Amino acid sequence: MRHLLATEGLDPDLATAVLDTADELKRTLLGREVRKLPTLRGRTVITLFYENSTRTRVSFEIAGKWMSADVVNVSAGGSSVGKGESLRDTALTLAAAGADCVIIRHSASGAAHRLAGWLAEAGTAVVNAGDGTHEHPTQALLDAATLRERLGGLKDRRVAIVGDVLHSRVARSNIHLLASLGAEVVLVAPPTLLPARVAELPVTVSSELDAELPAVDAVMVLRVQAERMHGGFFPSAREYSIAYGLNEARLRLLPEHAVVLHPGPMMRGMEISSAVADAPVSAITEQVRNGVHVRMAVLYHLLATDGGEQ
Ligand code: CP
Repeated sequence: MRHLLATEGLDPDLATAVLDTADELKRTLLGREVRKLPTLRGRTVITLFYENSTRTRVSFEIAGKWMSADVVNVSAGGSSVGKGESLRDTALTLAAAGADCVIIRHSASGAAHRLAGWLAEAGTAVVNAGDGTHEHPTQALLDAATLRERLGGLKDRRVAIVGDVLHSRVARSNIHLLASLGAEVVLVAPPTLLPARVAELPVTVSSELDAELPAVDAVMVLRVQAERMHGGFFPSAREYSIAYGLNEARLRLLPEHAVVLHPGPMMRGMEISSAVADAPVSAITEQVRNGVHVRMAVLYHLLATDGGEQ
């Protein structure tokens, strides 16, 4: 694997290989007192975050460190970005300083692709850690890892992705990855929070959450991204919560084996109630735990294989 920029177009065999590697790493490290492998000794991984993050940045840092890479964290606020340095100059600076891999989060859709183009000559790998409303591929991979673990596989499983699909890079990455791995995806959202070109996506669409819940294997609840709603939020927060919030009453509509996911950060009481988020049906903590192993696997396929993959 040269870069990981998106799940749209990602070879399903390669995605499965990454998930299998993550499973293997998890098994290997389980119960170990010292969780350290020598695999990436001497390699330098830089996280470059222009937007806030807890889960993604921290788990990439831990993933790199558990594989013995040297990990450097750069955030826009504390770097020369604050003095007006461009993304291109920042990227070339990091490559010149010795980065083998740059993991980027940026508010602009397409930023990771641009970075990969600029760093092609340097041979630096790029991972998209979330670009605007476009994609967040490692989130989709860790969600797939969690669903595989809980459901035993993805083929023919039905997954409802609920809420603010319009602004969600997590939804977009999950739609493409889940479809390519054989799952069925139903988007459940108010029409105002669906993308204009939803008909081109490999999904079905519904606005009736209660009607969908009895027939799904998993519910992926999305965060309502108020920070990206410059024209205001419609429906209102109260209307949204009543129609699309996952609460205890709705939990009872789900099949017994079903699982609830949320990429975080959660707006408790808005899109998900605390009773659901903290219930055994919720795999939210497992998602975070799996995020470390999946990101280790991504770094492995980028930096420790011979590049013969996609
Ligand atoms: N899911 C996710 O991307 O969370 P962070 O914004 O905390 O990284």
